[in-house]
Amino acid sequence: MLSADDGSKTTDTMIQTLEWTDAGVRFIDQTKLPTEERYVICKNCEQVADAIRNMVVRGAPAIGVAAAMGIALGVKNSKAESVGELKQEIDRCCELVRKTRPTAVNLFWGIRRMQDKFESLRVRPLAKIKQALIEEAQRMHAEDIAANQAMGRLGATLMPASGGVLTHCNAGALATCGYGTALGVIRAAVEEGKKIHVYADETRPFLQGSRLTAWELMKDGIPTTVISDNMAGAMMRAGKIGAVVVGADRIAANGDVANKIGTYTVAVLAKEHGIPFYVAAPFSTVDLATAEGSKIPIEQRNAKEVTHIAGKQMVPDGVQIENPAFDVTPAKYVTAIVTERGIARAPYEDSLLKLGEGIAVGG
Ligand code: MRU
Repeated sequence: MLSADDGSKTTDTMIQTLEWTDAGVRFIDQTKLPTEERYVICKNCEQVADAIRNMVVRGAPAIGVAAAMGIALGVKNSKAESVGELKQEIDRCCELVRKTRPTAVNLFWGIRRMQDKFESLRVRPLAKIKQALIEEAQRMHAEDIAANQAMGRLGATLMPASGGVLTHCNAGALATCGYGTALGVIRAAVEEGKKIHVYADETRPFLQGSRLTAWELMKDGIPTTVISDNMAGAMMRAGKIGAVVVGADRIAANGDVANKIGTYTVAVLAKEHGIPFYVAAPFSTVDLATAEGSKIPIEQRNAKEVTHIAGKQMVPDGVQIENPAFDVTPAKYVTAIVTERGIARAPYEDSLLKLGEGIAVGG
């Protein structure tokens, strides 16, 4: 089980979603927000896998780095006496974290990066390999924050000078190692002096919008209104929304975007109302090996997330329930995809491929 961190209480400092500490990997427990700010420490890769599965940590970039840190914990704890034994331990940790959540490609990216790093180090002494792998996981944490800040600067140019911006789910500091993707774009726009008012969809069933997005934007003093998901269309029709910006869990090579369930509805509504629909994601979310959105595996979660709210049953016993955690927004609804490497626009087959090859594309 995870152990609660005694020294953890509300703090006014920057949100630390996850961090490597001497005691283990420390996570803010997102299942407790917004009413309790509590932290847990995971001491081994089993505990990290549980934290990902149970959504103590969630959001595509955050779970990618969490996976890497879980593997790094396995390395740190390993009693291996040979490189072969260490590889067995790494393989076991990779398998554990791989099975936690299927949709966010960042998870598999994080695992792959640790495996590749290990392969590049095989001939080195055991202690050096272990140290380098632990450092690699920490490097991924720092790189994620830098990527978010870079995409924030690029994406801010797309935001209106003033007015409402709608977001869905939580693609903020809490979904990343800091600053956020979609909320990073909003933060950067606000830092540049744009007068943005955020409309946060509550995001049923897990309420990432009302619990998490509203919490972190309030902490930053960014004006925020929470709406229930079924109000988005009415807000658009009333002229309150100038742009939509969301994150992503996986972006296929053709620009189809898997993101939190309900994103597709928002994108269709945005198109109907002539409102730009932007996606902000690090390039580690782009999966060039998946040709189109229909090939993206969609996680099915426990029916209880739908049947209950805050532990209270909301449906009659025995009724059938569906709970896909994500949907796919076809590329035709996406105005632009903001990454740290540049802003991609349709045709995404070309622009995403170019960004993958390090070739600049137009903004
Ligand atoms: O189920 P979750 O909370 O992990 O889903 C998160 C999302 O869908 C986010 O919008 C996405 O991961 C982008 S996070 C920067």
